[in-house]
Order: sequence, then C-alpha cells, then structure tokens
Amino acid sequence: MISTLLSRLQGGADGAPVPRLGFGADYNPEQWPREVWEEDVRLMREAGVNIVSVGIFSWARLQPEPDVWDFAWLDDVMDLLHRHGVGVDLATATASPPPWLTTAHPEILPVTDRGETLWPGARQHWRPTSPVFREHALRLVREMATRYAGHPALVAWHVNNELGCHNAHDFSDDAARAFRDWLRTRYTTLDALNHAWGTAFWSQRYSDWEQVLPPRLAASHPNPTQQLDFKRFSSDALKDYLRAEREVLRELTPDVPVTTNFMVMPGTKGMNYADWADEVDFVANDHYVVPSGRERDELSFSANLTSGIAGGRPWFLMEHSTSAVNWQPVNLAKRPGELARDSLTHVAHGADAVCFFQWRQSAAGAEKYHSAMVPHAGADSDLFRAVTALGDTLKVLAPVAGSEREPAEVGILFDWESWWASEQDSHPTSLLDYHREALDWYSALLALGVRADVVTTGADLGRHRIVIAPVLHLVPAELAKDLTRYAEQGGHLVTTYFSGVVDENDHIWLGGYPGALRDLLGIRVEEFGPLPAGQSVELDDTSTGTLWTDHITVTAPGTEVLAHYATGPHAGRPAVTRRAAGSGSAAYVSTRLGAEGLAALLPRLLEPAGVSSELPAAVRGSVEATVRRGPGGRFLFLVNRTDGSVTVPGLTGDVLVGATGDDGAVVLGPRDVAVLRTSTT
Ligand code: GLA
Ligand code: GLA
Repeated sequence: MISTLLSRLQGGADGAPVPRLGFGADYNPEQWPREVWEEDVRLMREAGVNIVSVGIFSWARLQPEPDVWDFAWLDDVMDLLHRHGVGVDLATATASPPPWLTTAHPEILPVTDRGETLWPGARQHWRPTSPVFREHALRLVREMATRYAGHPALVAWHVNNELGCHNAHDFSDDAARAFRDWLRTRYTTLDALNHAWGTAFWSQRYSDWEQVLPPRLAASHPNPTQQLDFKRFSSDALKDYLRAEREVLRELTPDVPVTTNFMVMPGTKGMNYADWADEVDFVANDHYVVPSGRERDELSFSANLTSGIAGGRPWFLMEHSTSAVNWQPVNLAKRPGELARDSLTHVAHGADAVCFFQWRQSAAGAEKYHSAMVPHAGADSDLFRAVTALGDTLKVLAPVAGSEREPAEVGILFDWESWWASEQDSHPTSLLDYHREALDWYSALLALGVRADVVTTGADLGRHRIVIAPVLHLVPAELAKDLTRYAEQGGHLVTTYFSGVVDENDHIWLGGYPGALRDLLGIRVEEFGPLPAGQSVELDDTSTGTLWTDHITVTAPGTEVLAHYATGPHAGRPAVTRRAAGSGSAAYVSTRLGAEGLAALLPRLLEPAGVSSELPAAVRGSVEATVRRGPGGRFLFLVNRTDGSVTVPGLTGDVLVGATGDDGAVVLGPRDVAVLRTSTT
C-alpha cells in the first residue's frame, strides 16, 4: 500500500518520475498568516518536499462550535499544496479535543491511577474508551472524509496522532467498564479470571465482574496479572479506537491508504505495535534521538524494529527532528551531517519516506524551541541548506523506493509481552531494562559488523540461522514449542537470564528456571542471583557480568559450558552454556555482559551457525551495513558510525550516494552514508 501512496506523489517541483521516496513534514499552516503559506510552498519546492501531514491539531479551527464547521482555510491549503506538487497525508484532526468539547463533556478526560484528572490545556486529553469522545471524534472524521474524498492532494489518511503518546493508560470509570468487557472476552468466566490472576493470593477472589477494576493506586503492589492484562487491554483499547476511525475512512474513501504514526522508541512501550501492524495500510513511525551515549545504535535499532513490525516491507518515517527537540532536560542541536545520516539510516532500514516534525518552526506554543525544516532564522540558514541537500539525495535514491529488507542471518527477537512482564514490580531486581538488553546485543553485532534483523514474536524464525532472544521472560507453551522446533530443525537459539520464567498469565513455570526452556537449554536454575547496582562478577573468559547471575546446574549430557563464573557466589559454576539440540543448538547467557562483553562472546555463539561479518575486516564496527532489495535492484547502505573518515575497499556496484577514492574504494566522511546499487535485479 505504500507504493499506492508513493505513486500518487507528483514528484515535487521537478516532476521526477514515480515512484520515489517521500520527503516532507507535519505542516501546521493554521499557526501562520496567509502570506506565509505562499512562501511555504515556494520553499517546499526548493527543498524537494513532496508530502506533508496537515490538520493534526486543527480540530478547534475546523469545528469552532458543536455545529459550526470551517473548512474554507483547509480547502485553500489543500488546493495550494496540490498546485505545487505536494501530496497530503491528511490527519483526521482528532488528536486534541477543542475546549468547547471538554467543557461540555469533562467525562472524556483521562484519569491517572491516583485518580487525578488530566485537564485540557495540552493535547491528547481524551479517554480511549470514552463513548462520548468517540461519537464526537468520529463525527469529525466523517466530515473530513466526506469533504476531502476525491481531492487530488489527498494521498493518505493519518489517524489521530501518536495514539497513546500521552493517554496510553487511563484508569477512569469508562476504562474500568471497558476493561471488564475485555476481560469477559478473554476469560469468559470469573473462575477463569480468578485462576489467571492467581486471586487465591492476598484474598483477591472476585465473586462478581463489577468488583474488577483497573490497577489503580493500591496499598501495596497490585496483582501482577491484573497489571499485565491492563497493559494488554490499554494497547487494545487504542487499537480499537484506531480501527473505529479507519472504518469510517474506508467506508468513504476506500482507495486512500490509512496509517497512524507509531512511536517505536525505548520510552513508549504502552502500545504493542507488533500487534497493531495489520491494522494500518502501511506502517509509519516517529523517532527522536535521546542522548544516551548509544543514541546512534538506538536509532538504528528502532528503524530495524520498525521494519520488523512492517514484516520487512517498506515503511514511512512520519516524524523525526532536523535538529534539537524541546522536551529533554537539555536539547542538543544536531551536528553537521547528523540530519542526513539519521534520515538515511531510517531509509537504510526500509523507510520509503523521510518526514520531520515540523515544516516551519513555531513562533508560539510549547514547541517553539523544537527544530523544524524552516527554522526561526528562515531559509537563509545552514539548517535549511542541509534540508535541501537531503531532498536532493532522496531524489537520487528514488530507485530504492519499494524495496524490502534482504533478510539477515541473525534475528533479534523483540517481544512486547516480555517487555511488559519482565519490568513489572516485585521482581528479583528493579534494575532490569528489557529494551536496553536487546540494544546491548544489537550494539555488539554492530561492533562486529554483523547484520541483524530485529523481528517480533510470530515472525518466521526459520529465515535466520541464529535467533537471539534476550530476556524472553514470558513464554507461553506454544512459543516454547516453536523455539524448540526452531533449534531442532537446525536453528541456533541464544537466550539469557530471566527468560522462560513465566507463562502468559505471569505464573511461574515450576520445577526450576527457566521452566519453559529448561529442557531445550539442558540446564536448571534453583535460585536467581541478581547483583546490586555497582557490583559485578568475573567470568573465566575475562568478561565481567553485572545485574544478574544464576546458580546453574547442567542437566543434559550434551550441554557445553562456554564460560564459568570466576568470582562471586557461583564461582566455578557455569555462566554461559550451549546445548546441541537436534541439528541446531540452544545457548544461555546468565549474566549481563553489556555490549562490549557480548561483542567478545558473540563470535563463539555465531560460529556454529556459520555467521560472520560481510564487511572487510578493517571497517567492522566503524560502518553499519544494511541491504534492501526490490524492483529497482539490490542496494547496499553503508553508514559511518564514527566521527572520522572511513574507507571501505573491495565493493562493487554503482555508487548512488557517496564518494569513491582513486582505487574505487568507497570513502565515507565523518557521519556519512553511502548507497551502492550492487545489482539491478
Ligand atoms: C510482611 C507480610 C507478609 C509478606 C512479607 C514479605 O511480613 O506480613 O505477608 O508480604 O511481608 O516480605
Ligand atoms: C511528537 C508529536 C509531534 C511533536 C513532536 C515533538 O512526535 O507527534 O506533534 O510534538 O513529538 O518532538
């Protein structure tokens, strides 16, 4: 469906052939006087912009009173953009309910677990389960779709905006009612719910559905399965709302693809996007760089995971930033080259469009210090010149449009349910960070120059010779069978501490950890040994472990010990194991080695799978490589991960983007990206 969208783009000022990559931004013309719009479209042409998202926060302007509509200005904007060859990803405008609505219906406002109301004054102040909100919002969606059906600028629909950005977990009475309905569907009987939630514990047995509540602020730790189910329910409630808007749009404009912008980032775990992907006609993502010392890897990981969510098909980068954001404690400007490198890293992982928040930097409002394509300084600025240069690069990359990712030999399994379950309270440690664990492995593979696909549960693991499943905490019986079959049929599974510990109800698999995977791994753990912050243990392969240790007993004769603990309470006992299983294997890493320690261990884990880097030895770790393949050929992306120059010898292919030296080697300046077409088929 993304190809439908791209083929509708006019190609911008130069009328370039379609399909091509999308380039643009959120466009908020309602913040500006009319004369600025003329300059906007002129500059959009100059930059090569061919798509913008319009109307995201326009509800109060479009419907100033319950029965008054004002579309004239948006008609003009749509017409103006179309005249200038810019397609519109039109928002349904439901992301920020207008003051008249919240005044008349305060019962649509979300409520926290402490019972506090989230008042209007910002945005996204609505309950996903509010029937009153839904009635008003869907009325607006219907008006929008009726008005703009058939408008030549309309290329896609943008449902709401970042669903769940501020209202992912609502504990209101509406939520309580909807939660009960959701639980009735899941469990049918109260007995089944009582069993799943383990309500024999702490006298929590329910005798009537009306007694069941969201996990509101309680005297002590709320029931863990209640918490886990509330996370599932909250993700489903937003998904259900997405569907409701989508159904109106499909009814009125069946040919226009529908999307919504996901937020595949470490801080936004409330929405199970792997489960949402089928609800949209193409996957769109927003990503912002948050300084962490590993932000480059995280950006790549996010783009890679988005590709996984999209099943390897092209996706749409709906927002990122040209430079600083406004919502971190200190908002850093991007350095020269970072705007292009960040953008092209997303393209390297399957983005067929590169868009920003936002087109023109606001003069007023909470985001006035957030960067944009046209900064406060205006078009005569290094930033706008960098934007225009990126537009030129994306035109050159038009042949990439429509290509999918070429599967990598290594898969990293990212599982939303384990993310949710592993980080709940009352656990052996509160220091475990599921996303960070996955990122550790990803960084280690980047350091070795080994390509990996981040995939989500349910993906075909058989495509990968080795599958790494860090902290796969929640393992239903079916998943345990799938992983066992994967290994027995020749796959190489690697997993870690705190994996295979609970089932889908968050009940322990009894008989020794990791219960669900114990036989496959050929080990048994009787007690966990988490480490306090700042404490570590040494392994006999010279690596250092933190966060966690396990008291491991090898139970199957074919289980090899790859490393032992050298210090700590388990000194002399196994720390890293591998069991030959069928024609594959299953390995277990029982402590946190961090990216560096994993990079040292990984060659031994990759070896039985016969996996190694495809890059020349000299540039491994300095360059990230990805491959896309599609109607335009096979494309090799090389991203310079360093702040120095890197020369990559021995490659053949047309250099679409990037420079070559005298000997034909690809030369990457600091933070540069090169793209080669290595085959035309
Ligand atoms: C207290 C309570 C017990 C149990 C323990 C756990 O002692 O009385 O029910 O919760 O704490 O440490
Ligand atoms: C999100 C929102 C945008 C804007 C940016 C700022 O992505 O969708 O409206 O607030 O954050 O970074």
